[in-house]
Amino acid sequence: MTRERVCAVADLETDTAKRVVLGGVPIAVVKDSAGDIHAIGDTCTHGDISLSEGFVEDDTLECWAHGSQFSLLTGKPLSLPAYEPVPVFVVEIDGDDVYIDPSQTKEVTA
Ligand code: FES
Repeated sequence: MTRERVCAVADLETDTAKRVVLGGVPIAVVKDSAGDIHAIGDTCTHGDISLSEGFVEDDTLECWAHGSQFSLLTGKPLSLPAYEPVPVFVVEIDGDDVYIDPSQTKEVTA
């Protein structure tokens, strides 16, 4: 699979998540308060909840249902009840646009 254009950088609001579905894969795209853009799996690993409906705080995205916070850097839950990570996708900025390849996840060891 190849990368797909998701949106313009300007379309992303700071500290807000945007849900996109690429190749059938739901992804939460987030611009954090530092201006960095992240992409993690949009489905909470605790339940079938869209993480992009939750809350962005620093470099975490919090599930609104039961409060697990997922790292935007590693995909790992930083608080219970979720304990399985979500995938982290490679984000490419090309000009003014955001691109993601849904088949390309980051190897996160931290
Ligand atoms: S469904 Fe996300 S923490 Fe429970």
